[in-house]
Amino acid sequence: MRPAVLVTKRIYPEAIAYLQEHVEVEYCDTDDGIPAAELLTRARGKQAVVSQLTDKFSPEVIEQLDPGLRVIANVAVGFDNIDVPAASQKGILVTNTPEVLTDTTADFAFALLMAAARRVVEGHHYVHSGQWTKWRIDLLVGQDVHHRTLGIFGMGRIGQAVARRARGFSMRLLYHDAMRAPAEVEESLGLEFATAERVLREADFVSLHVPLTPATRHLIGAAQLRQMKPTAILINTSRGPVVDEAALAEALQNGVIAGAGIDVFEREPQVHPLLLKLENVVLAPHIASASVDTRRRMSMMAAENAVAAMEGRRPPNLLNVEAWSELSQRGA
Ligand code: DGY
Repeated sequence: MRPAVLVTKRIYPEAIAYLQEHVEVEYCDTDDGIPAAELLTRARGKQAVVSQLTDKFSPEVIEQLDPGLRVIANVAVGFDNIDVPAASQKGILVTNTPEVLTDTTADFAFALLMAAARRVVEGHHYVHSGQWTKWRIDLLVGQDVHHRTLGIFGMGRIGQAVARRARGFSMRLLYHDAMRAPAEVEESLGLEFATAERVLREADFVSLHVPLTPATRHLIGAAQLRQMKPTAILINTSRGPVVDEAALAEALQNGVIAGAGIDVFEREPQVHPLLLKLENVVLAPHIASASVDTRRRMSMMAAENAVAAMEGRRPPNLLNVEAWSELSQRGA
């Protein structure tokens, strides 16, 4: 009998075709997602689950998964929806989709930065609503991006890709990370490592590229926003809970900072009601990696990771090597 996979939500058709070539597929062909109880029922008897960031694999859910499940293949680079240590303990491999979305996400972070700095969305609404009746010297004046200081939190793949783009705008680059980047990366990108306080104090734009962990939850709250310049703009394409959304809304309303470009939210798809009323924030529905090519490739990568694990091969984008060693030792 061929092994079986559960795909919890709609993905690109070529990934489904690839899965169908190799294994039995139970496909939830909708964008709705399935509640945890249903996920557990449907995952029964399957060797793999192809999941998305809206599927929550808490320790309690993982505990109840079938012992035969070999892999959870997440269609995302972020994997804060899966308790990886709990999966490892149960001998379940976890995979993600890194690299393929790095440039696409960095492009979007820069798009938000440009849009917020140069008031692109306000300009669009102004023209669209017929308010544009004359040219004015100070009509929708914004802030320069070139030659300004960009502060980056998180100098991983996406942080570095954002830094590369910023160099094209002759920006000065400060960054903070729990782990300092290698000297050759700092040198080639012209990066200056600094304390979080200094990044916040000196940056004209602050862009967040950290994973969501207990240490980065509310990395930016009321206190950090107060350390930023009143002219500063905050960009978040990482994970919503990295920013205290209520504190951000208040800071934007009260002029503590000048603007923001936000793609991710604390309780998606809900957005803090005050943010919806403000003009000085550009809001997007978690689409930083959403180019046709990238979302296709992410779907394919997850499918390939799932098939590799089901065929007893080490999946290319394995996150928990310890679970693989354990499985290999058991000869499973
Ligand atoms: C990710 O991959 O983690 C993005 O947030 C969704 O594409």
